Amino acid sequence: MAMTGRIKVGLVGIGNCFSGLIQGIEYYKKNPSQEVTGIIHDTLAGYGIHDIDFVCGFDVAENKVGTPLMNAIYESPNMVNYVAKDDMPKTNAMIYESPLLDGVGIWVENKINPLTSTKTIEQLTTEVKQIIKDTGVEIIVSYLPVGSDQVTEFWAQICLDTNTAFVNCIPSFIASDETWAKKFQEKNIPCIGDDIKGQVGATIVHRTLAKLCSDRGTKIDQTYQINVGGNTDFLNMKEQDRLVSKRISKTESVQSQLKERLADDQIYVGPSDFIPFLGNTKLMFMRIEGRQWANQPYNMEVRLEVDDKANSAGIVIDAIRLARIALDRKIGGPIKPASAYLMKHPIEQTSDVKAKADCEKFVANE
Ligand SMILES: NC(=O)c1ccc[n+]([C@@H]2O[C@H](COP(=O)([O-])OP(=O)(O)OC[C@H]3O[C@@H](n4cnc5c(N)ncnc54)[C@H](O)[C@@H]3O)[C@@H](O)[C@H]2O)c1
Repeated sequence: MAMTGRIKVGLVGIGNCFSGLIQGIEYYKKNPSQEVTGIIHDTLAGYGIHDIDFVCGFDVAENKVGTPLMNAIYESPNMVNYVAKDDMPKTNAMIYESPLLDGVGIWVENKINPLTSTKTIEQLTTEVKQIIKDTGVEIIVSYLPVGSDQVTEFWAQICLDTNTAFVNCIPSFIASDETWAKKFQEKNIPCIGDDIKGQVGATIVHRTLAKLCSDRGTKIDQTYQINVGGNTDFLNMKEQDRLVSKRISKTESVQSQLKERLADDQIYVGPSDFIPFLGNTKLMFMRIEGRQWANQPYNMEVRLEVDDKANSAGIVIDAIRLARIALDRKIGGPIKPASAYLMKHPIEQTSDVKAKADCEKFVANE
């Protein structure tokens, strides 16, 4: 398919994150005097935030599948409301069925209400590939629930089979997994992942401060980061079995910034509970304890309060455009500068300062 100046994106998992992304873009359209915050540049290699067309979406919820995308992003249990539903533009994009596999956990099942499918995985595979072809999708972006390892692999394989770039915003490892990364490399298809880093989220704050303490020559003895929120993302994460890769992703993101790794029992980083009335507000509590000159102790505590969905949208808007730049330049495999800068668990961790500089070079085609 010949590419145009528009970026054609297909979405997987039409939850709060996509709702925040799509409503945020419309917010800027309606408020042109507002400076666009949270991105590397207004335009990335010529692509602005309004150059993206969301051409189709995939989900399993009975109230979302079969509905227009612009309605689905407001369906329960989504709760983002930056722009009123009636003020959103109408588009032709529809939501289609994705395979359920391991997408819906026990805590969120009665909130998502997955439809009872009559289709086999083979039928859905054929159907999905046809939709990607018909709608001209160039990039698939996944915002599946944490713990959706099988569904993520399904969509990664779809990308490989249809020559579609993949942006994986969740901690099921594809771009950072050697085997999957090789498959994307061999087919020269770009992938960016895994697990999106917020604009000013818990991870970036924790890793920046941990790096500061380490770079200033102090000895960190122990550190923790706990997070609470009130949306389905946090409800789903009450299921400990779904959290294995999330813990690895978040913990490694901090460990990677230290000159000396902490012993496993001296670092705790994780989502920790669901508090319903918080909605999309996420609270993070972080503490670092260490020692400085003459073995004297110090500690610091941070409490961060953010809109969790704005936090991720301000980053994925760049990931999408960086994937398109890779497609334009026929660069495949894991896009390392973009993954290191925008994701918690890239195939190669670097400092955020270096990651940003590398990203700038990538955009400038240096
Ligand atoms: N700041 C952030 O918000 C942030 C940061 C990093 C990672 N993430 C991750 O992004 C993901 C999405 O977060 P969210 O708040 O939008 O979640 P959400 O619960 O609001 O949305 C998930 C969506 O996925 C759908 N779904 C479930 N199973 C599916 C399947 N098999 N196929 C297709 N769709 C399926 C659900 O119906 C729902 O619409 C989560 O994994 C979250 O941890 C978010």
